[in-house]
Amino acid sequence: MTDIKKLISQMTLEEKASLCSGKDAWRTKPIERLGVPSVMVSDGPHGLRKQAREGAGQNESIEAVCFPCACASAASFDRTLTERLGAALGAEARAEGVAVVLGPAVNHKRSPLCGRNFEYYSEDPFLTGEMAAGFIRGVQKNDVGTALKHFAANNQEFRRLTVSSEVDDAALREIYLANFEGAVKGGKPWTVMGSYNRINGQYAGEAPWLLTGILRGSWGFDGMVMSDWGAVNDRVAGLRAGLELQMPSCGGRTDAQIVEAVQSGKLDAAVLDRAAERVLKMVYKYTDSHKTAFFDKEADHRTAAELAGECAVLLKNTGVLPLDKGKKVVFIGEYANAPRIQGGGSSHINTKNIPGALQAAGEIPGVTFAQGWRLSDKGPDPDLIAEAAEAARGADAAVIFAGLPDACECEGYDRAGLDLPENQNALISAVAEAQPNTAVVLHNGSPVAMPWLDGVGAVLEMYLAGEGSGEAAAALLFGDVNPSGKLPETFPMRLQDTPAYLDFGGDGHTVRYGEGVFTGYRWYDARELPVLFPFGHGLSYTTFEYRGLTLSSEAPAEGEKLTVTLKVKNVGTRWGREAVQLYVRDRATSFRRPEKELKGFAKAALAPGEEKELRFELGDRAFAHWEAGEKRWKISAGEYDVMAAASSRDIRLTASLRHGGSAPLCFAVDENTTLGELLDDPRTHGAVSLLLKVFLPRGKRSDVSDAAITPEMVRAAALSAPLRMVRDMIPAKAYDAAVAQLNRMLAKPAQK
Ligand code: BGC
Repeated sequence: MTDIKKLISQMTLEEKASLCSGKDAWRTKPIERLGVPSVMVSDGPHGLRKQAREGAGQNESIEAVCFPCACASAASFDRTLTERLGAALGAEARAEGVAVVLGPAVNHKRSPLCGRNFEYYSEDPFLTGEMAAGFIRGVQKNDVGTALKHFAANNQEFRRLTVSSEVDDAALREIYLANFEGAVKGGKPWTVMGSYNRINGQYAGEAPWLLTGILRGSWGFDGMVMSDWGAVNDRVAGLRAGLELQMPSCGGRTDAQIVEAVQSGKLDAAVLDRAAERVLKMVYKYTDSHKTAFFDKEADHRTAAELAGECAVLLKNTGVLPLDKGKKVVFIGEYANAPRIQGGGSSHINTKNIPGALQAAGEIPGVTFAQGWRLSDKGPDPDLIAEAAEAARGADAAVIFAGLPDACECEGYDRAGLDLPENQNALISAVAEAQPNTAVVLHNGSPVAMPWLDGVGAVLEMYLAGEGSGEAAAALLFGDVNPSGKLPETFPMRLQDTPAYLDFGGDGHTVRYGEGVFTGYRWYDARELPVLFPFGHGLSYTTFEYRGLTLSSEAPAEGEKLTVTLKVKNVGTRWGREAVQLYVRDRATSFRRPEKELKGFAKAALAPGEEKELRFELGDRAFAHWEAGEKRWKISAGEYDVMAAASSRDIRLTASLRHGGSAPLCFAVDENTTLGELLDDPRTHGAVSLLLKVFLPRGKRSDVSDAAITPEMVRAAALSAPLRMVRDMIPAKAYDAAVAQLNRMLAKPAQK
């Protein structure tokens, strides 16, 4: 192993600074004098976008394999799937001499309109963190690194380079950072990529509390942080905060700034040494490993197709699917021939191997084709629609391959609305009217509106499933593969219902995250809003039953791991997989909490009649919320429900428990500590209730009407009173003695 510390001790100040920015678009700088090599990084996340030629255009990269995008792979609810995907991609990277794959991208889906949602996993941070951790483990098995991106609170494309995400502390910790936390802890990525945007006014890449305090301090990250491409604002501030590598090359401009800052004493030389060490650790982790790998495009194509089949979500099925291989079926629409498999921008993979479902179903007699719609249509084409409806009428079933066009989902800009192109909506309605057995296969990276939903018999959401999308769709439609994906996001009824509707995008300078922690299903549940399809929803060609939910304890204490078990059985006639979800409802916290939050999931593969037991472990975090006032994760003492569910709106089993809660913090009262806070604290509860008993009026007061002042009102007012109000009511000596007594009580940890 290379002795990195020794190498650094031999470097000049300029050499160390040179390591802190790229050599070109994709490589780190070598130091030839000392034999330090240069390594290459490449996009990701759902394929290898290696740009072999300097100055190559956006879509000019080596021919590679396009795996399912994160929007699709998240729908598998299967950690082993993202791990398999990552392992194949990591081997390709190794074979191609790429040291770090720039992914996974784990930003939270705050609004269905974000242009990059197709690259992101979910509207739930737990699901995102787990799926991303699988991806990271898979890639890194090959001794190739990952870059967990974009850290953090980068949830829109509009003005993404400068906009400030104004987000409260609880939402930041519970949602926008929790994605990254799960991925860092579960996957241990070699690197993290900072985001472009600001967070509450400060550039993410200059925030020491984020890059050092939380990432390294709280989560134990021990890798290297790089900038997003062109994200660096103040290089020295960034380095000080913990951003080691600026990408791409800056022509040496900011290296000189670093040198100057060290020479003038503005930057501690130790900060630069530490940065150089972290960059070199990444470089040598790759070059010191001599793993060999092969890029087998054919094998990886087969993997891509297999994975795509495990990601698709059957949203609706009245019995149209699976299709009968002996019947007449008409495939309709451009995406039957040439499916849309990915979005645009830096994740765009250059693949030529994209068989359509029509081609994949080629062996099946009775499958015909009608054009129905074309990407080039300016609006509905009455002739194509009439021809397709006619073909549908003459067949036993029709399948329309629809979805968003490329231009709708791309890095750099957001979507304007939820609608599919008009020509597709008109076509679907017309075909559904002509043929009751109509199925729609969707290709999109984010929710779409379905005005025709009631008229069609089935909807299969393929998402953007990579180059195997067509083969997977054919296998799913004809029942060779049983759908087992579940939605990693809510499909809303209307854009107006979505959590960020009022402030998504913001004014260009700031974007207020007004919904706080109530994002995704947390929002729709709390507002009791109807949805088109809920988070976690997905059908199968078989049926599953749940039973026997048990908890290892009905009164867990802080620090105790709760084991949850339940049984799931395939009571249908086909082999299938079921993604079981475990939600926790907090009934204990005194302020509003989400109705439920995903805290576990597992996918069971079951033959007809087979039953399996699933086990989940719930630790403290499953019950905790971020208590902003105390700046810590806190479990309120009291009731919680643990729910086993087939979707966020299909709860099958519930068990309740009484959690002992987190130990209250030792603290000293001040003048603004309220009586209510002291009553809530077990250490001062007794003393304060005694005080209230003495001072508060009991029963009715004769001098005021009942309606004007009730004992409840007086009690409520007393509980919100800060101690300074008490101070004015009692002698100074008595007040000081009471404060001293309270502080003695609060200085001890609470008895459980
Ligand atoms: C994107 C990153 C990407 C980088 C390099 C940036 O514009 O935000 O996700 O890895 O470019 O292509």
